[in-house]
Amino acid sequence: MKKTVTLTFSDGSPSIELPIEQGTYGKPVIDIRALGAHGYFTHDPGFTATSSCTSAITYIDGDEGLLYYRGYPIDELAYQSDYMEVSYLLLHGELPTAEQKTAFEQSIRHHTLLHDQMENVFRGFRRSAHPMAVMIGVTGAMSAFYHSGLDNFNPQHREVVAHRLIAKVPTVAAWAYKFNEGQPFVYPQNRLSYAENFMHMMFSSPCEPYEPNPVLARALDRIFILHADHEQNASTSTVRLAGSSGANPYACIASGMASLWGPLHGGANEAVLRMLEEMDHVSKIPEFIRRAKDKSDPFRLMGFGHRIYKNVDPRAAIIRQTCYEVLDELDLRDDPQFKIALELERIALEDEYFIARKLYPNVDFYSGIIFRALGIPTSMFTALFAMARTAGWVAQWHEMLSDPAHKIGRPRQLYTGSARREFVPIEQRKA
Ligand code: SDX
Repeated sequence: MKKTVTLTFSDGSPSIELPIEQGTYGKPVIDIRALGAHGYFTHDPGFTATSSCTSAITYIDGDEGLLYYRGYPIDELAYQSDYMEVSYLLLHGELPTAEQKTAFEQSIRHHTLLHDQMENVFRGFRRSAHPMAVMIGVTGAMSAFYHSGLDNFNPQHREVVAHRLIAKVPTVAAWAYKFNEGQPFVYPQNRLSYAENFMHMMFSSPCEPYEPNPVLARALDRIFILHADHEQNASTSTVRLAGSSGANPYACIASGMASLWGPLHGGANEAVLRMLEEMDHVSKIPEFIRRAKDKSDPFRLMGFGHRIYKNVDPRAAIIRQTCYEVLDELDLRDDPQFKIALELERIALEDEYFIARKLYPNVDFYSGIIFRALGIPTSMFTALFAMARTAGWVAQWHEMLSDPAHKIGRPRQLYTGSARREFVPIEQRKA
């Protein structure tokens, strides 16, 4: 017997019975689709309690601090898998066999190059353009190179799109950095792993040999795993909504990058570093904590809080551990900003304001410190987040279009504007 809920109305209007669906885990959902026929919509600005789709990719339990990719706990993947394997898992739903992994990595390596004409797209930007502006522009421009003949409803076409984006976005990110630096673009070396290749394109130059540090490459790969997907966050929901109209997938991923760039979302890792730079000494922490609590001050403690995690963000604990590994490898344990971060975390976790609101460090709190230790400029932090999240975005886009029942997204609204009124000719208008 399917569980239902009955809506009754205080004015005696006929009650409405709605079905309740239960997923593998998580809160059951009330299927409200029938409400429209009864003359009602639901209202949930910011979608704080709204399920927008059915998905089998990622599960988050904010109260327990759990994160599963296709059922596998994030800590097991972070310490035992790698980003290529996790990308395959997100896309196909199962961990690859050795043969499947080899074939997948081979296909990704085959797509790391950008069309030679794309160099001109980079050169259309000012040298000082923010890397995210460049990534959004260049990724969107891919829709001009891969459009005719692309059938979004053909699963083989979607798989090629997924491989192309997972493979090319690191090249776009690294070239955005080189463009900012005024250095020549470095082509991918397909003998290298995903993270090593990115480091090669970021840090090598034609003038001298460069070999990625394997410990740092491993740490970077782990960070990419942690950022690969996260249910229907703002940027993933943007990709789904854009893709629901059948739009070009490269343009859809560019729209996801645009959403991720916001400081409340993926831009937070860059904002964390700028906040720690502004703090510059542990003695200034109390003033920032005071400002974070002051409702008249728009300042928020960057890297703290989460819409869903009202317990620790499981990724933050892994990122923190990785931060220690990177700083030890680079002999930077006395990094001043790392010390400020540790002290800020200690103070905030003891403060009633943060405890009462369940504001804990999120994934962005430590990632910026690692990126800076790796020599990655603050302006590139969100670009690395976008690189990693590309696997999740394309997996969610693919899942949506694989559903024969999928519909174009079209939210409704609560209208609070003017009632109907007659047009007034300009000569009769008064200020
Ligand atoms: C990511 O959705 C995802 O999954 C995102 C992400 C992913 O992987 O895709 O996990 C990545 O975006 C992580 C979040 C990164 N953003 C930040 O670190 C920016 C700082 N954090 C906040 O802006 C905030 O915590 C949000 C945006 C992350 C969540 O905001 P919510 O859920 O809308 O919470 P809220 O704004 O309703 O806040 C509840 C209360 C409020 O106080 P009261 O009105 O109850 O008194 O907590 C306060 C807020 O003022 N609050 C903070 C705070 N975050 C919330 N106060 C100070 N500092 C903060 N960081």
